[in-house]
Amino acid sequence: MRYGIIGSGMMGIEHIMNINIIPGARVTAIADPHQGSRDWGRATAEGEIAVHEDYRDMLASGAVDAVIVATPNYTHAAVLDDIFETSLHVLCEKPLCTTLEDARKAAARAETHKGVFWVGMEYRYMPPVTRFVEEVHGGRTGRLKMFAIREHRFPFLKKIGDWNRFSRNTGGTLVEKSCHYFDMMRHVVQSEPVRIYASGGQDVNHLDEHYDGAVPDILDNAFVIVDFANGVRAMHDLCMFAEGSRNQEEMSAVGDTGKIECLIPESNLVFGTRQPKKVDVEHVAVRDDVLKAGYHHGASYYQHLAFQRAIRENGPAQVTADDGLRAVAMGLAAHRSIDEGRPVPMSEFGL
Ligand SMILES: NC(=O)c1ccc[n+]([C@@H]2O[C@H](COP(=O)([O-])OP(=O)(O)OC[C@H]3O[C@@H](n4cnc5c(N)ncnc54)[C@H](O)[C@@H]3O)[C@@H](O)[C@H]2O)c1
Repeated sequence: MRYGIIGSGMMGIEHIMNINIIPGARVTAIADPHQGSRDWGRATAEGEIAVHEDYRDMLASGAVDAVIVATPNYTHAAVLDDIFETSLHVLCEKPLCTTLEDARKAAARAETHKGVFWVGMEYRYMPPVTRFVEEVHGGRTGRLKMFAIREHRFPFLKKIGDWNRFSRNTGGTLVEKSCHYFDMMRHVVQSEPVRIYASGGQDVNHLDEHYDGAVPDILDNAFVIVDFANGVRAMHDLCMFAEGSRNQEEMSAVGDTGKIECLIPESNLVFGTRQPKKVDVEHVAVRDDVLKAGYHHGASYYQHLAFQRAIRENGPAQVTADDGLRAVAMGLAAHRSIDEGRPVPMSEFGL
């Protein structure tokens, strides 16, 4: 499988490092307008690769079978427009797009795209998370009633051109960052959201930064509550000034007979039952070379294996453009709830 990487910044490099350790897969081309990123990509990929400044030259080259879109969020819509003119397989990084209109357009075009179209909601593929989801779906909690996801972490990192400092470029923090968790909610709960209530703000981070005189406008903490059509309640707790945390991600699923927690990077699952009242801890080991090939607890590697399987077997994608669209819409609904101080029905987004 010959891969082309569009955007060899931080996430593009993580994709290259993972493709490097998958037999039968190779990065054969990269495209990035930034010299430093092109050099980084060339140094990370193994063997001979073609290096382009303009991704359209890569698309026209015939030298790749699949492309990874790892450019800034606000560029995804235009890059995808060009890719949809080809029949290449696509893994598009999250969020699918930054606006509902663009995400709808991309999802509509993806439906008739010849190649596999996959959205990079890779948190599903962290080994402890995959196991957690299997256990919840297997009935280990009884009938699921509540699902909570906390991410407590460090602030957004610096990016080339500082694109991630402004909501107009990212879609807003609850689209940019939390689309992963909204996707996870739909995946775990196996239902669709009907209503979203949120409270959040920018209280600590980036307030003393200036870019051409403008102060960043990206929210750094929020609580988001989601009511699902099947009656399950979900909650997301995001804090981006919480380096002093034992785990970065903590999930908990509680049903009528038991509870499961998933703790990352500890990589432990905690199983609890009500009767008898007891708690057991199981460690989920992740291969060392896989852990070292990125910053997402092995997710990129296992996502690539699944993406390649979909290509070999002619689909279907496990994370579709429609999943990408719905995660964006949930993030936008959470932002609207914060801005307007009211619960927001998903029907306002036509979903
Ligand atoms: N799956 C995850 O967990 C995860 C983690 C981080 C980032 N991401 C996503 O990956 C994407 C990239 O984020 P990043 O952190 O690597 O950003 P980055 O700024 O480090 O890298 C982006 C790269 O894209 C290049 N670029 C900009 N416009 C381009 C264009 N038109 N054609 C080709 N290259 C172009 C930039 O020069 C830069 O090298 C974003 O959509 C982001 O949301 C996903």
